[in-house]
Amino acid sequence: MTGRLTLPQGFPTEVMLLERPAEDSLPEGPWFLLADRKLRPAWEASGLPQPPGTLWVEVDEGSKRLPTLLPWLEHWAEAGYHRDATLVALGGGVLTDMGGLAAALFLRGISWHAWPTTLLSQVDAGLGGKTGVNLAAGKNLAGAFHSPARMVACRSFLRTLPPRDLAAGRWELVKMALLDGDASIALRMLEEAIPEPESLAFALRRKAEIVHRDPLEHGERRLLNLGHTLGHALEAASGHTLLHGEAVGLGLLAACCLAGALGMETFPEAFLRRMADALRPLAARVKPWSLCEAYLKRDKKALGSGADEERILSILPVPGRTAIQKALAPRSWEEAHTLMNTRLA
Ligand SMILES: NC(=O)c1ccc[n+]([C@@H]2O[C@H](COP(=O)([O-])OP(=O)(O)OC[C@H]3O[C@@H](n4cnc5c(N)ncnc54)[C@H](O)[C@@H]3O)[C@@H](O)[C@H]2O)c1
Repeated sequence: MTGRLTLPQGFPTEVMLLERPAEDSLPEGPWFLLADRKLRPAWEASGLPQPPGTLWVEVDEGSKRLPTLLPWLEHWAEAGYHRDATLVALGGGVLTDMGGLAAALFLRGISWHAWPTTLLSQVDAGLGGKTGVNLAAGKNLAGAFHSPARMVACRSFLRTLPPRDLAAGRWELVKMALLDGDASIALRMLEEAIPEPESLAFALRRKAEIVHRDPLEHGERRLLNLGHTLGHALEAASGHTLLHGEAVGLGLLAACCLAGALGMETFPEAFLRRMADALRPLAARVKPWSLCEAYLKRDKKALGSGADEERILSILPVPGRTAIQKALAPRSWEEAHTLMNTRLA
């Protein structure tokens, strides 16, 4: 199951799923490395090269800003790289988002390879072409669509991830199974300590299919926001004491509860209980609805103006079928928040 994944014809990113880093998955021509310092021991232990121009950096959500990119660009220009060079970005979603944007800017755009090293970035951030940095007004508000030519996901990197980051990233995997309404795959994903290659391949293929059909998020790609509607609001209201993936997990449970409350078919009770059990340790970080509501309304997925102004574009999972998109009033999400809390109690 490891190796090169078969993806839709014409998909701009070649995806390699590996047990551990391998030299033959590096770019064929000139390249340089932009990498998270925390990965240096693993990279060096693998005996992989560090070409001149390599930068080992420390980034986090707070430094995911445009000024952080400038010294990198200066450094590569100084090193004399040309347009035929490829940037290899090694790290979590913060690093790959920033590396991808730096690649889009350097010499008006060079090729790049994403080497995501967190579960969240292997399943989500590393694939799909969205790159970016934060502005004072919000997350990821400056960026570019610039797909990596290759994504290399190595399971060995996941072994050094803090357990909390691993558990948080798992919810993005579960999301991909729930997108197809498949509770049994979702359950299997919840049980795997380090996700099996089959689970990673399932999520990557499904994301690639969706992104390929709707690269600029005009329709189907919005489905990938399953769990994010309330998730983003919970994350922001918690003052980011909830990790993104944790908030998505809570948002998934809320979306499942809401679908049921709206009269749609519900997922098996045992599955909902298992989700709630896994999420219960986060209950203390869930803020009351009164603190979440404003964030939910401000979210970029709130619809246009006029009659729709107060409606939120929401994604609801359906057992056995693809999730659906529905415009809902915020009070529906208030109900979802209550139902989720009841299950967490
Ligand atoms: N582009 C997209 O489509 C997309 C999708 C989802 C999320 N994102 C972005 O991804 C970011 C979050 O990414 P993340 O969850 O990977 O967080 P992150 O990049 O902040 O990484 C989490 C922590 O793990 C460390 N780390 C990374 N790999 C490690 C490893 N193998 N072993 C030990 N430590 C390691 C990092 O240094 C960091 O401290 C957010 O900025 C979000 O906006 C982008």
